Amino acid sequence: MRGAADGRPLLVAGNWKMFTRAATAAELAGAVASAADAAPGADVAVFPPFPYLSGVAAALRGSRVALGAQCCHDRAEGAHTGEVSAEMAADVGCRMVLCGHSERRQAGESDEAVGLRVRAALRAGLVPVLCVGETLAERESGAADRVLERQLLSGTHGLAADEVRRVDVAYEPVWAIGTGRTATPETAVAAHRTIRAALVRTFGDAGAFPRILYGGSVKPSNAEELMRSEGVQGVLVGGASLDAASFRAIILAGAAARS
Ligand code: PGA
Repeated sequence: MRGAADGRPLLVAGNWKMFTRAATAAELAGAVASAADAAPGADVAVFPPFPYLSGVAAALRGSRVALGAQCCHDRAEGAHTGEVSAEMAADVGCRMVLCGHSERRQAGESDEAVGLRVRAALRAGLVPVLCVGETLAERESGAADRVLERQLLSGTHGLAADEVRRVDVAYEPVWAIGTGRTATPETAVAAHRTIRAALVRTFGDAGAFPRILYGGSVKPSNAEELMRSEGVQGVLVGGASLDAASFRAIILAGAAARS
């Protein structure tokens, strides 16, 4: 199905996880900014660790690169030691936030908590990138589609049509994250179809708007093929986003895939 997401630029996003230091984060951000300038056809975003958001925001000032946080609490403020709100992330320059990354789900974040965080992101004016994905056991037992639909529907629970239009989704099969084992384009296309169908079934026309990214061992050698695949509207990159040359190549692949 061709929807509104197909008319938008591809998004190439880098999730830095718990890596970098202040100096290397700023340096990497500078390299990403110049790569984005060389690829005006692709949207680009980076998700640094919390302590480095302000420094990276400064390094990105005036660039085409969007800044994002790796997660957020569902409340705007309060007695929640160790937590960071979506409002705080927005305050230091974030425009996006990852919600429900599998590494956070594995650490105990429930489907319901992810949904609350998506709402919090929208309340703060951020674009939530709702991450969904099945484990290897779920895929092998034939439960992948059911898991994707459950995570997607609880992550978007209660959203109005105009809110769901502002969400992006990342399909990240857990078995492909950090393993070097990328989903084949066929697997990614089928999962993206499942996700799009659930969005449209639930939200009607608005369900055509979220971009659906693929994530899991994306690298320069497979990025363009994945982004040329039907229904893949960008990539969420972990390991390869920490290497300036690799991430630049993936950004250029994103621009090439739409040319
Ligand atoms: P990876 O991570 O590219 O290192 O597999 C992707 C992610 O976790 O977002």
